[in-house]
Parts: sequence; C-alpha cells; structure tokens
Amino acid sequence: MCGIVGVLGTHEVAPVLVDALKRLEYRGYDSAGIATLNEGKLVRRRALGKLIELSDLLVHEPLIGKSGIGHTRWATHGEPSVQNAHPHISGRVSVVHNGIIENFQELRTELQGYGYAPTTQTDTETVSMLANYYLSQGATPLQSVRNTLAKLTGAFGLCFLFEGEEDLMIAARRGSPLAIGYGDGETYVGSDAIALAAMTDKISYLEEGDVAVLTRSQVSIEDKEGRQANREIRTIRGGNGLFEKDGYTHFMEKEIYEQPSVIAYTLQKYISDKCQISLSNTSLDFLSIERITLVACGTAFYACMTAKYWLEKLARIPVDVDVASEFRYRAPPLSENTLAVFVSQSGETADTLAALRYCRGKAAHIWSITNVAESSIARESDEDLPIYAGIEIGVASTKAFTCQLTVLLSLALKAASDRNQVKDHEIQEILSAMQSLPTLINLALDQKDSLRLAANELAHASNILFLGRGLMFPLALEGALKLKEISYIHAEAYAAGELKHGPIALIDETIPIVVMAPQDRLFDKTLSNVQEVMARKGRILMITDPKGVNAAGQGLWKAIEMPHCHEIISPIIYAIPAQMLAYYTAVAKGTDVDQPRNLAKSVTVE
Ligand code: AGP
Repeated sequence: MCGIVGVLGTHEVAPVLVDALKRLEYRGYDSAGIATLNEGKLVRRRALGKLIELSDLLVHEPLIGKSGIGHTRWATHGEPSVQNAHPHISGRVSVVHNGIIENFQELRTELQGYGYAPTTQTDTETVSMLANYYLSQGATPLQSVRNTLAKLTGAFGLCFLFEGEEDLMIAARRGSPLAIGYGDGETYVGSDAIALAAMTDKISYLEEGDVAVLTRSQVSIEDKEGRQANREIRTIRGGNGLFEKDGYTHFMEKEIYEQPSVIAYTLQKYISDKCQISLSNTSLDFLSIERITLVACGTAFYACMTAKYWLEKLARIPVDVDVASEFRYRAPPLSENTLAVFVSQSGETADTLAALRYCRGKAAHIWSITNVAESSIARESDEDLPIYAGIEIGVASTKAFTCQLTVLLSLALKAASDRNQVKDHEIQEILSAMQSLPTLINLALDQKDSLRLAANELAHASNILFLGRGLMFPLALEGALKLKEISYIHAEAYAAGELKHGPIALIDETIPIVVMAPQDRLFDKTLSNVQEVMARKGRILMITDPKGVNAAGQGLWKAIEMPHCHEIISPIIYAIPAQMLAYYTAVAKGTDVDQPRNLAKSVTVE
C-alpha cells in the first residue's frame, strides 16, 4: 500500500515531507520520492529502497521550496526503480498516487496520439500526462483534474502539484482514503492521520469521489456530484505519540505487549459492567438470522475460522468462512436471512472490500469488524463493530488479531443469547473467562524467555510444521503465517487429525513441529498425533498448559507452558506464543520485523 503526503508550508518542506513519509513506512514500500516548487518550478528527488536512501540523496542534492508532495511506493505496475518511483511529472503537473488505474494502457495509447511519450512502466504517469494535456488545452488546474478523473477507472488516492501554483494542491479520493490536515497558515494531505501527526491533529477525511482544493488559507471540497461539501474537522488525539516505539525494539514487539490493555479496552466496549453483552447499538435479533458468512484475508481470515467454531457451538448457527479473494469470484448464493461479516484491520483490503460490495443487495445484513472507523469497509457496511486495538504499525498483525477475536466471541455470545442456545450461567461463565483475558495474556507474555530460546533454534530450520485441533487449528494456521511472513522460513499448518493423511511423510529429525494444544477435550487425540511424530524422530515443540505438560511426559523437544484457561478463550491466549515465536525467530534471523520484504500493511490492490 503506497503512502501519500502533501504540504503547503510556511517553511522549507523537504524535511517535513521526508518525516511524514517515515510515518508511512509501516505500509510497506520499495522506493520513495518528493517534489517541491522552487520559485514556481517543479523539482524532484527519488530513490530506490528505504527512506535513508532518499535522505542521503537530499543531503547531496537538496530541494528548496515551501510547497511539496511525497510518496512511498509499493510497486504494482512496473518494477521497483527510481524511474518508476513517484512523484511523477509531466510538463507542469506532478502527482503522487495510491491505488490502481485499471484503464491506464488505453489512456496511454490515447496520450501517445497527442504526442506524449511515456517514460515509465507505471499507471500513475498516465495521470500526470492526462492532467498536463488538459492544462495545455487551456483548462484551469481544477478543471484539468476534473477532466482527468472523469477518464480514470480504478481505485485511487491522488495529490497534485502544479508548476507556477505555489499556493495550490488538489487531492482526489476514489477507493483509497485521504486525510486533509489543517495547520497554522499551512494545509496538508496525507494517506492517513499518522502521516500528518507531527504537523497537526486537526484532520478531516475525504469521502468517496471528493476533490479537495487546498491553499494555505482554506480548503474547499466538492463531492462526487461536484457540490460543495463540508467534511468534519476532528482532533485526532495522540497521533504523534502513537508513532513511537516507547522503548521496544520494534513496533511489532510493542504491539504484542499492548494486548492486555487494548483487549481490556475492547472488552469494556462489548461487555457491560453488569456482564451483559453490548454489541454497540445493534438492533439485529439473531433469531432472524439463518446463516452467517464470514469473509476476510490473511490473519483476519484465521480470526473468522476461529469464530466459526464459537458461533456454531454457542449459537448453533451455520457459518461459512471464506477468503475474500475466493469469495468475490465464486459469487456464492446468499439468502435474505444471511448476516455477512467482513473482518479487516485496515478496512481497506481490496479483496475484502470487493466481497462486501458483492453482498450489497444480496445479504440481509452487512457488518464489518475493523480497526479504522473511517475506512472504506467500515463506511460501506450497515454496521461496523470497531476493535479498539489502536493504530497497528507492524505489518504482521498481532493486537488487531486478538481484538478481532474478542469482538467475534462477544458477537457469538450475543447470537447465542438471542437464540436462547445457552443458559445464563454458561454465558456468565464465559463472560468471566473473557474478563480474565488481560491477566492471562500477561502470564502468557511472561513466557518470553522460553519462547526466545525456542525461537533461536527454530531460526536454523528450513521448514516448520504447525499442528492444532478444533479451536487450535486456526491458531496453528496463524502461527505458521506469522512465522513465514517475518522470518521468511517456510511454515505450514495442518489440522492435527490430518497428519496421517499425508503430512506425516514430512516428519524426520530435521523438521520442528509446533503443536498448539491446551489440555482440553481434544488433547488426548492430539497427544496420540504427538506420539506418532516422536516415533519418527520428529522434534515436538508443544505449547500447552501445566496439565498438558504433565500428560505429554518425556520425549518433547520443548514445552512452552501457558496459563490454564477456559477452553473457549484459549485461541486468544495461544495467539501470544504464536506471535512471540515468530517475532523472536525473525529477530534471530535479522529480518526486517516491522516491514518484511514484499509485504504491505494493507493490500489495497488485488
Ligand atoms: C497478517 O499478519 C498479514 N499482515 C496479512 O495477512 C493481513 O492480515 C491481511 O492482509 C488482511 O489485512 P486486513 O486485516 O487489513 O484486511
């Protein structure tokens, strides 16, 4: 996911732009650049790799100017290169872009007919050429942007700068969020509030189809119908502070340790002090729901897989779970008594958003569970159930996952209660188990030394297998994903019961097997799988509780002891060792924990 920033400043903007881009590094990128207006002329510096490369370039070739735009690029069209890095310039127009222009090839051909010669492989260059074409035909900057937008298909956030227009920026939103910042005699554009946090906490968010015209003294916004629009200016608290590691080595580590507090906060929002479930102000009665469809990607999908067990066990509702990229093209039939729930930390994942739009008009209710209230998925659903994880910077999702699980379990309890499927005392038992989550997570975090020691050995493996049963199967999948996405070690997960249907062929002394198995009603089944593995010299790293350690006896390669907990909340507790194993393995391998290679924090393109 690319990062955009624009500043109409009262001082030199180059360092301000680079600092803002640093705040967007968490989105993932492979090149960066800025452009400014120096005495009305567009000047630009771009660099491949991390922002340090751009900063070094600016030391040797500084940029002057008080108006500027900047960009971190996560390559979609065209390889990572200086040539393809943004900002792109054509004639008197410079632009930075997040998203995809789907019809750029046809526009490129049209522009070549006007004598334009593309110099990059990017879709974005087409936007600058088109705007410049209209400008050269006598259109004003605003009209040239309007004419350009009318020609584009796809999803994008754009910010334009024009030669000779020192007090003008134009921003446009269609599918990728854009924030407008208000300073003291300055105005700003950013992909999100984080980018602008060092400059202002006064932020408004563009709506779909909005075009914003900024000068230092005012911002005028027109909506998709071209009508003047007012977008609320909010004070974003703590934006600046949220972007510090607070003494942790990585944002991921900080966010792992934030889980007790953010889950406590989330619980407060969903479980009243009278231990009643309060799903915001939803009026939905689950008695009217015949089926639930859960759709997401990646870690959020594993949260949905976990929720399937909870909803079917507690509420006795049939649940379908799909990865969004499959769901959207399989185009499944939906009945009017279906509740479709879209789970997304960023609220901007393209496949999940597309799946939501497929359901519009087909499913009775469209809900979302997101971490960004202003996100596209949150805004396009009938009801958004927010998680209160706070800004998650590390590309590998941790606190958002456990907060998603907390909200999904609350939802399952509400559904079970509405449908009279569980007795009051059972609900109270689960609610009190949920209230103990912060304490139990702290106990799980206390296992960091044994987890780090185990990770230091896992770091030497080439392949790692994760096993889990029941509620622990989605956790095994999540543990494998966490490990591979930040340590680059191949890891895969299987339902423990599947071992004999093929994967056991993998077992020998070279492959560590991580078994996630609290001492629950399935433990003995999993223990027999463990014994099958040990009989073939497999090295078992078992994550279990005190009873499980005793029951497993000798022969384990390693055992990580989790606190005993109610079975229903075990996925939230066992997410902690899954995260920490991955984290410490990546640290041992020296990979880029917060911005792992090839990955973006939110996949806003297909
Ligand atoms: C999780 O660690 C990954 N970063 C990735 O799988 C992520 O969960 C997925 O891209 C979905 O993102 P979302 O929750 O923002 O939709």
